[in-house]
Amino acid sequence: MHLIIQHIGQLVTLSPSPNALGEGRGEVKPLGKARVGLAMSELGIIEDGLVAIENGNIVAVGKTSELKPKLKLLPHTKVIDAGNQVVMPGFVDCHTHLVYGGSRENEFEMRVSGITYQEIAAKGGGIRSTVKATRLASREVLKRDALKRLDRMLMWGTTTVESKSGYGLETKSEIKQLEVIKDLNDLQAIEVVPTFMGAHEFPEEFRGTGDSGQGTVDRDGYVKLICEEMIPKVAEAALAEFCDVFCDQGVFTPEEAIKILETASNFGMIPKIHADELASVGAAEVAGKVKAISAEHLLYPSQAGLELMKAAGTIAVLLPGTSLTIKKNYAPARKMIEMGIPVALATDLNPGSCTIENMPFIIGLACLYLGLTPAEAICAATYNAACAIKRGDRIGSIEEGKQADLLIMDIPNYRYIPYHYAVNYVKTVVKKGRIVVGQ
Ligand code: NIG
Ligand code: FE
Repeated sequence: MHLIIQHIGQLVTLSPSPNALGEGRGEVKPLGKARVGLAMSELGIIEDGLVAIENGNIVAVGKTSELKPKLKLLPHTKVIDAGNQVVMPGFVDCHTHLVYGGSRENEFEMRVSGITYQEIAAKGGGIRSTVKATRLASREVLKRDALKRLDRMLMWGTTTVESKSGYGLETKSEIKQLEVIKDLNDLQAIEVVPTFMGAHEFPEEFRGTGDSGQGTVDRDGYVKLICEEMIPKVAEAALAEFCDVFCDQGVFTPEEAIKILETASNFGMIPKIHADELASVGAAEVAGKVKAISAEHLLYPSQAGLELMKAAGTIAVLLPGTSLTIKKNYAPARKMIEMGIPVALATDLNPGSCTIENMPFIIGLACLYLGLTPAEAICAATYNAACAIKRGDRIGSIEEGKQADLLIMDIPNYRYIPYHYAVNYVKTVVKKGRIVVGQ
């Protein structure tokens, strides 16, 4: 299908001027490289803009007055007038735990009455309770529930989602989750990108009976199972592009994380890491050392860790919905931006620490609690998020040659997104050039 969207009030391209990127004369834009510092505020806005789409890709971007006379209108071209509206890239939710069994509203109620997320986890709740439910759930049920979530996410403008495994913690159940993630791609419009996260927690069968304390856990045994059985099998079946480890207090140590991520890297998976979410344990340092594409959460990173991340070009994926839900600190986002670390945003959708499915709400939280400007937050939720899942060359901005994943928002300017953070203004969603929401 051919599509032209014209007379767009604000076309938010996310295509920054070469100067803002510090690229000198800048004929070449560094496609796929996450933006840092001031470049995060360059939204490349075109007023009275036009975007033309053919066969799923963007073929022209510019001012309506300049482009319209040059465009050939084929008989089957659909033309949309988007006066007084915003057109922008679809949101990229680059960190979720989308596929899981069961639910944990009982824990929500406990937290509301003052019991902390970590206290619940130490008593066998938290991730371990979802592992029990996910192991028992059939593929059909996992798929059915994930599809409902994806449908809602699409309505809120998310066009690409990363999803981790990590609620199986045994080879067959990890593979079951990853196969469900793969199948979801054929069943609905959102692209779902797979990450293997066998190192999300230590499973019951590696814990001493009657005691869930750290001392009785057969840590080496489980790390060995991950490295010698899970990673090779997941890699052989090509079920994951990335490997993630929960490196934090009470879960995997920096040494264990390095071992797992280096093994995964040798098998062709790109390292990611849940880092310093609950305490400062040296996980940001691990991200730098293994050259992780992204480090996520980062509520308590050390200065040394941030410096190593910057040197490695690691993207900080910040998840303010989780801080809100488990009543924790917010990541030091301004410091990261000032240091030149690229920042991305995501929901962290999961059954425990954050059940938020919509990116506009996360953008609002990022402005209110991380101190991002609306422009920085939009960049973090689109282009930089695409870079965090190695897709910055294909999605996350509206540029000639890129895949046509975009939104028509019924708002006069992009600042309305964080300003009205709990309102859904998505009118139309275009995925790979096809209208999948609205008309
Ligand atoms: O990103 N931090 C680790 N994992 C998830 C929480 C998962 C859960 O509570 O089920 C997170 O917050
Ligand atoms: Fe997470």
